[in-house]
Amino acid sequence: MTIQTAVAAYLLFLQLVLLSTIYAFAPTPSKNIIIASCVSSKTISSAQSQMLPIRTVSKTMVRSVSSHIPASGEAVTKLAQQLIRIPSITPDDNGCQNVIRQRLEPLGFQCETMQYQDVTNLWCLRQSPLHSAPTVAYLGHTDVVPVGPPSSWTLPPFGGQIHDQNMLLYGRGAVDMKGGIASFVVGLERFLQDHDSLPYSLAVLLTSDEEGDAKYGTRVVFEELQKRGITIDMAIIGEPSSLHQVGDVVKVGRRGSLGGTLSIIGVQGHVAYSHLARNPIHESLGALKDLVDERWDDGTTDFPPTSFQISNIQSGTGALNVIPGFKTVQFNFRYSPAVTDTELKRRVHGILDKHGLQYTLEWGETTVPFESAPGGELVEQAMASVSDVMGYSSRPCTSGGTSDGRFVAATFPHAQIVELGHRNETIHKIDECVSLKDLKDLSLIYKRLLDRLRIVEERKQDGQEYTDHHVSVAALP
Ligand SMILES: *[C@@H]1O[C@H](CO)[C@@H](O)[C@H](O)[C@H]1NC(C)=O
Repeated sequence: MTIQTAVAAYLLFLQLVLLSTIYAFAPTPSKNIIIASCVSSKTISSAQSQMLPIRTVSKTMVRSVSSHIPASGEAVTKLAQQLIRIPSITPDDNGCQNVIRQRLEPLGFQCETMQYQDVTNLWCLRQSPLHSAPTVAYLGHTDVVPVGPPSSWTLPPFGGQIHDQNMLLYGRGAVDMKGGIASFVVGLERFLQDHDSLPYSLAVLLTSDEEGDAKYGTRVVFEELQKRGITIDMAIIGEPSSLHQVGDVVKVGRRGSLGGTLSIIGVQGHVAYSHLARNPIHESLGALKDLVDERWDDGTTDFPPTSFQISNIQSGTGALNVIPGFKTVQFNFRYSPAVTDTELKRRVHGILDKHGLQYTLEWGETTVPFESAPGGELVEQAMASVSDVMGYSSRPCTSGGTSDGRFVAATFPHAQIVELGHRNETIHKIDECVSLKDLKDLSLIYKRLLDRLRIVEERKQDGQEYTDHHVSVAALP
């Protein structure tokens, strides 16, 4: 036996000992591994969070904030559990919105269910007695994505159960976003206990069609609101925006997306008689190079420059001696608000035409970018609320996919928008879960935000200038 084999055998032995130890403590091996991943990711998170810049917050402020807030943890957990226990796979609300409606109506909200096709939307408004008061709206969704095989879950996906070792509430929607709705509703209840008459109107809009194709959800409700002359001035979107710690990241916009399929037409022929053919691979090289090299814009303060990516190229007949008759190129733009989709389309055609190509170009659906209206207080107050309650700072960011924020921006262009919600690590996964502490912390953050907005609005209405400097927001990579 060589030394290497001896060492290898010893390591194998150690592994076996380790595995059997784990096995001995686990109900089933697969479940144990899943719990471990949920716990270990938490450990990583707290290690990484040490590296986040901490904004100095006076200790007294943090204490005074938490001391006058009644313990809300239990109430949030209960509501989150209640919602998780209602299976509401998109677009079936299945009664979730009624639970919320029953909580909001006693607080002075006028609620209305707007049913479009198979989508249920709930619109609740608590009008301020003040004329010209702005409207602050909380937007969320009660639908969830499918659960996958239920037997793979550590705790049942619609059970609303708390794991007694890690104190995590498991279930589909725990973070995306029934847990977020629960945090908001309880934060709101606690806030209204102290402040009945507000300098702004409050609205809550819930849809059951955010995870689906979003055709009959928020977009259609907004059309209806517009008809009634209702506007939204500030939108708080409860999507899970946070990364390592609750509130560490707030979303202030999203890039747009535009895709296209380009077919370049040539003439098929024998490679030996190329003068009788036209090679679409050769002919398009210059144009593709120009598209790749083009600087579409310089981005904006909050957004990186627009990126153009070719994702697929197909051509060739499979034979080595044949010049193909056509070539297909698929590409996608992720674009900043510094350009429009119309302009991008025009410029792509310009480049293709300049090279004299014969082609067809089919554009995919456009998702417009959105950005919180600049200069407003919402983003700043949201970040300050995180820092008041949690003692660490929050970063604004514009990364990620789309959300219902795009409909706010498209319908109410002057609206300020912020996405602030739970940690997104387990969204859409098996074993989606949220910590009880996060549920409570986020509800304190929302409560604080509503209070900060109250103070700002009251100052404005007293004729005082809103003076806090605007927080400059830089895009994250
Ligand atoms: C989670 O949130 C962070 C910050 O908002 C974002 O950069 C990341 O892409 C998100 N991850 C998922 C899986 O959504």
